[in-house]
Amino acid sequence: MAVKTPIVIVGAGGYARAIHDAITAEDAFDVLGFVDNHAIAGQLFCGLPVRLESDFVASGYNGGIVVGLGDNSLREKVVLGLKSSLPNASFPTITHPRAIVSRSARIGHGSVILGGAVVGANVEIGEFGSIWSNAVIEHDSIASDFVTLAPSATTGGSVTIGARTFLGLGCQILHNIRVGSDCVISAGAVVSSNVADLSVMIGVPALCNRRRIKGESYL
Ligand SMILES: CC(C)(COP(=O)(O)OP(=O)(O)OC[C@H]1O[C@@H](n2cnc3c(N)ncnc32)[C@H](O)[C@@H]1OP(=O)(O)O)[C@@H](O)C(=O)NCCC(=O)NCCS
Repeated sequence: MAVKTPIVIVGAGGYARAIHDAITAEDAFDVLGFVDNHAIAGQLFCGLPVRLESDFVASGYNGGIVVGLGDNSLREKVVLGLKSSLPNASFPTITHPRAIVSRSARIGHGSVILGGAVVGANVEIGEFGSIWSNAVIEHDSIASDFVTLAPSATTGGSVTIGARTFLGLGCQILHNIRVGSDCVISAGAVVSSNVADLSVMIGVPALCNRRRIKGESYL
């Protein structure tokens, strides 16, 4: 029997549960458990133990880690901390076996592609991206690091998405559009013109509702 790579999921909420589901849909990894700031003694999640982050970091762990925190800026902050405190750990890419990923797509380490997602030809997804169920990122598009496409978010071809930008449930980004960094595109929005950094875009066609403060939570 092939030896499975050990992996720990950081986070113990909905995104962590979805990642656990994707990982266990195939046999490549052995999920050891979860890590959470608020873990209590004896806590289980998805039937596995939840450890405090401080204990996990002190253990000197050197296996695989996937960071299951949905908020893009928070995910980035936690990843930077883990990379510095656990320098020998690795951050594999997780792809649900029923995602459709083009052979010409490039996906950075730490990214997660959930079931039903489509990653088209010559697409580039940076590090620690989060591509949820049934999201579609079409040919020649680029999603920078720490981007999220929520369920059923869709881009046309040759779209560029800046770092830490969040595309909400079912939104659509028309082809050739450039969306800046740290933006939030609302659920159901249709984006038909380029979007400046730090914009919150709402509606059809999407208009800028306000500017965000970098790192502001949005979920
Ligand atoms: C865009 C969003 C972040 C709110 O941004 P905000 O700048 O804080 O906006 P507000 O909540 O103040 O809402 C501003 C107005 O837009 C409306 N609005 C908010 N979200 C909307 C949406 N998705 N579609 C249409 N109108 C929306 C509000 O009702 C409000 O209308 P009003 O001024 O008439 O009262 C939020 O509505 C959203 O869509 N979040 C993403 C949800 C999602 O996809 N979650 C995925 C989970 S996996």
